[in-house]
Amino acid sequence: MTAMNPVRLAVNIEQFCYPDGTAALTDIRLEVERGEFCALLGANGSGKTTLLKTMDGLIREYRGTVLLDGQNILKLHPRDIYRKVGLVFQNPDDQLFAHSVTEDVAFGPRNMGFGEDEVMRRVATALEQVEMTEDAVRNIHHLSYGQKKRVCIAGLLAMGHEILLLDEPTAGLDPVGEMRMMELLQKLNRSDGVTIVMATHSVDMVPLFPGKVHILGKGRLVRSGSAAEVFRSPQEMEKVRLRLPHVAELFWQMQQDGYNFEKLPLTIDDARQKLALLLKK
Ligand SMILES: Nc1ncnc2c1ncn2[C@@H]1O[C@H](COP(=O)(O)OP(=O)(O)OP(=O)(O)O)[C@@H](O)[C@H]1O
Ligand SMILES: [Mg+2]
Repeated sequence: MTAMNPVRLAVNIEQFCYPDGTAALTDIRLEVERGEFCALLGANGSGKTTLLKTMDGLIREYRGTVLLDGQNILKLHPRDIYRKVGLVFQNPDDQLFAHSVTEDVAFGPRNMGFGEDEVMRRVATALEQVEMTEDAVRNIHHLSYGQKKRVCIAGLLAMGHEILLLDEPTAGLDPVGEMRMMELLQKLNRSDGVTIVMATHSVDMVPLFPGKVHILGKGRLVRSGSAAEVFRSPQEMEKVRLRLPHVAELFWQMQQDGYNFEKLPLTIDDARQKLALLLKK
C-alpha cells in the first residue's frame, strides 16, 4: 500500500556526528511528499550534503530514522533504494568514472538490465535533455566542470528515478545553463512526476521555482515554508550566512526609505508588477 502514501521521504534525525566528532545534523525533521520539488537552502557547511546522503542511505550512523515510502531506509536492500532514489553528487569527479560520456551515462541503465537498444535510446534522450549530445563520444576527463555536471545528471536521468536528490545541480553552470537546468528539473517534476530535492545556496534562484524551501543553519533546520514565508528580512538570513534575493533586498531597503510594500517581491516578475503599480500612482 506504499503507493498510496503521499510521504515519500520522512526524515527524523536527532543527531548525526561524523567519526571525528563533528555534529553535522541535529534535530532534523522534514517530509518530502510525492511530486514535491523542494530546496535545501544553506550556507557552506550547513549540512545539505550530509542530509541528502541520509536520504539515499549512504550515511547510516545517525540517531533517528529516515523512512522511504514508510520503510526504514537502513533496513532496505541497496537495490530497493536505488530503484527509487538517485543522488547526483556535488562534485562530478566523485560520480563519473567511465572514459567516454556515452559509456558513463549508459552504465546505470545497463546495470538495471535494459537491452542495448533501450540503453542507447535512454542515453541519447538524457544527453539531449542536458544539452550534451554533441559531446557524446568525448573523453570525460577533457570536459569542463559544468559539462561534467551535466553528464552526471544525464546518468541519473537515463535511469528514470522516481525521486531525484541533487546536490548543487547548478553550481558551476553558466547563466543560461543554470536556467536550462532548472527548467529541466521543473519539467521532470511537472510532466514526469519526479519528486525532487535540491541542495543549493543560490538564494536568487530558489524563489523562481515553486515548492517548499528548508533553510539549514549549522546542521539544524531553521525554517521551512514557501519562498515568501522563508525570505523575510536580511537580518534573519545573515544569521544563517545567507542573504535575501537581490530583488527582495532592493525592496527591503526601499521599505526602510519609507515606501510601503505589502510583501517583498522575490523575483524580477514580482518586482516589475509592484514597480508598475507604484509608477502609475
Ligand atoms: N567526512 C567528514 N568528516 C568530518 N566532518 C565532515 C565530513 N563531511 C562533512 N563534514 C562536516 O559536516 C558539516 C556539514 O557538511 P556538509 O558537507 O553536509 O555541508 P554542506 O551544507 O553540504 O556545505 P557546502 O555548501 O560547502 O557543500 C560541516 O561542518 C563539515 O565540515
Ligand atoms: Mg555540500
